Amino acid sequence: MNEIIVIGLGYVGLPLAVTAAKNGYQVTGFDINVTKVKKLKIGVSEISDITEYDLLDLQEKGYLKLVNSLPNFTDPSIFVIAVPTPLDGNRDPDLSYLKDACLKISEVISDGSLVITESTSYVGTLTEFIKPIIEKFSKAKGLHFAVAPERIDPGNRIWNLANTPRVIGGIANCCTELAINFYHTFCKEVIKVSSPEVAETTKLLENTFRQVNIALINEIAYLTKSFNISIHEVVDAAATKPFGFMAFRPGIGVGGHCIPVDPVYLTYSGDKNHVEMELVKLSNLKNQKQIHYVLNSIISEFNGCLIGKKIQIVGIAYKKNISDTRESPALELLNELRKLGALVTWHDPVVQEFKGEKSQDLQLDLDIGMIITPHDAIDFHIWGDNKFKVLDFSSGQQILGLPKFF
Ligand SMILES: NC(=O)c1ccc[n+]([C@@H]2O[C@H](COP(=O)([O-])OP(=O)(O)OC[C@H]3O[C@@H](n4cnc5c(N)ncnc54)[C@H](O)[C@@H]3O)[C@@H](O)[C@H]2O)c1
Repeated sequence: MNEIIVIGLGYVGLPLAVTAAKNGYQVTGFDINVTKVKKLKIGVSEISDITEYDLLDLQEKGYLKLVNSLPNFTDPSIFVIAVPTPLDGNRDPDLSYLKDACLKISEVISDGSLVITESTSYVGTLTEFIKPIIEKFSKAKGLHFAVAPERIDPGNRIWNLANTPRVIGGIANCCTELAINFYHTFCKEVIKVSSPEVAETTKLLENTFRQVNIALINEIAYLTKSFNISIHEVVDAAATKPFGFMAFRPGIGVGGHCIPVDPVYLTYSGDKNHVEMELVKLSNLKNQKQIHYVLNSIISEFNGCLIGKKIQIVGIAYKKNISDTRESPALELLNELRKLGALVTWHDPVVQEFKGEKSQDLQLDLDIGMIITPHDAIDFHIWGDNKFKVLDFSSGQQILGLPKFF
């Protein structure tokens, strides 16, 4: 199968579409977002790793087509689903994008095609949700299905699509083998697992592992603060143990499309099977509550009142050097501070604009500066001899010689 259709051109789908096209596949990249597709067609991408040159060159050479509506496919092809799987207003799994993607695929898929999902979802999604929808609404026969969860770490300059091993599990051995053949063309190592459920659980375990450990380190950070010792010094010292320990750092909460979300898909899987997942649920709660701990500390800096205080938050993305603001705890902090009457601006040269509000230059007329996500592009020197308080909630290198908040 030489034709690849990628459904959803975001952080996961776009790099895959470009990589597959560079490896000689005929790729159709499909997204419901009309503006996004228009921009991609003229080489404009929000994802820093994807260059204008690649987008234009691959389209010109005919390896990459970018579309808002799917044509019919007459030959067996590979459909890769990379649509969002967020939480709804009740913080339950929201599979509406996934359902829509399946319905759209079923209108155009041909006999013998392979459907792969890279979207993260609860255990059993491929067999209980994706496969039945596509089989019900399409006329195609002999379809293959597999799960190949994406493990991308946006902004990571070492680990990428090519060198991060890919876990693959199909509904039958022939499905797994077809998916392996595809990923092997651009991925150094593929890990074959015995079922889609193993692949789905593997992905959820990886991110829940981070969620639980972050909750643990946040909790220990309260303890170290109460003893007036540095959590970072403790973690650095523990990390000298050459085995059995992995360093995690405290922060104002967890963000992005994965760490705050995937553990909920895991506990949803547990609830479905009547397995109580207390530890995971508690970790979720603790990480959500982290922002309130931080807020309380700030409020006490100002004797209980933030009304009219001038505060600037630096870095609203959930992670350093990327523009992704999904589930970013910095945004929650911003909203909460404004609710408390503080006059809050933000500076983020990577995000630049959020919901119509633009990033402001680093200010000097402030009561408090808060460093949350210190992108490499930020030059802090004008805060050097500040007359206001700067709280650094980030981990990593010291900034302006200031102590870390945690
Ligand atoms: N971002 C990450 O770091 C990451 C890492 C691993 C796994 N994942 C998982 O991969 C999936 C995709 O995440 P993402 O970060 O790429 O999301 P994203 O929001 O960056 O991109 C998803 C794209 O899908 C499009 N879309 C939505 N519904 C569609 C539909 N029915 N048909 C076609 N296009 C549609 C959206 O317009 C958007 O452009 C999620 O399940 C996520 O949990 C994400």
